[in-house]
Amino acid sequence: MKVVKTVAEVQQLLAIPLSNKEVVGFAPTMGALHSGHIALVKRARKECDAVAVSIFVNPTQFNDKNDLARYPRTLDADVQLLQAAGCDVVFAPEVEEIYPTPDTRVFDFGMLDKVMEGERRPGHFNGVGQVVSRLFDIVKPTRAYFGEKDFQQLAIVRELVHQLRYKVEIVPCPIVREADGLAMSSRNTLLTPEQRAAAPLIAKTLFTAVDMVCETDLATLKKFVVDQIEGNQLLKLEYFDVVNTKTLQPVYSLDNEGSKQACIAVQAGKIRLIDNMRIS
Ligand code: PAF
Repeated sequence: MKVVKTVAEVQQLLAIPLSNKEVVGFAPTMGALHSGHIALVKRARKECDAVAVSIFVNPTQFNDKNDLARYPRTLDADVQLLQAAGCDVVFAPEVEEIYPTPDTRVFDFGMLDKVMEGERRPGHFNGVGQVVSRLFDIVKPTRAYFGEKDFQQLAIVRELVHQLRYKVEIVPCPIVREADGLAMSSRNTLLTPEQRAAAPLIAKTLFTAVDMVCETDLATLKKFVVDQIEGNQLLKLEYFDVVNTKTLQPVYSLDNEGSKQACIAVQAGKIRLIDNMRIS
């Protein structure tokens, strides 16, 4: 496995697989890797000839400067995990390498970024669009692996691929959970022991809510989720929405046609945690 910092190096390492039309798998990450990331890399290893992972804490997607400053950075440990998972190339650039000049592109994701995370984190998905597009231009992957925990991000990335006509297959990968149900996230390491002990209530509530869907209505379901989360002093509910899986627009009745996703965001102190589950 090679760890490189420049665009020239990563392109040199991938030049032969790409010119031989080999399948290049790519998992973009911001580091602080956990088993959720490693599942993406292992899947890419099984399905692709060459596997590249980027580790880049992208400043343009942070709408909150403090969130950017405290985002965990654990490069040495990340490199070890990636080596063990069978990664071939780690691309860990500095900010100037990705943005030699400021990226001023403004994307129009329609209604996809007007709800949930996009509504509460202005500019976040535009920044995600910028960095994912830069990384795709550099790595030129055949397949790119994204976790379903960031459900809205997946929809945004698919839309980006459609708008910019990238020839990359987006591969969604299931959420990986801790033994107590908490969705794995790099931000989990920032929780205090008390917040960490409270956090599994998010997944537990979501599981129960999804189970209740057949026998209740949307208002009762929402009230149940509010009561559960707000019942814990350490957690604050930002939103609980049931949305159409494709359009991400909130449904107004649980009887609505089409597949639906229950999505939640909760604050534990200053740390935001998100989770989601399919409603069949
Ligand atoms: O999901 C993430 O970690 C980031 O949003 C991504 C896709 C690596 C872009 O910075």
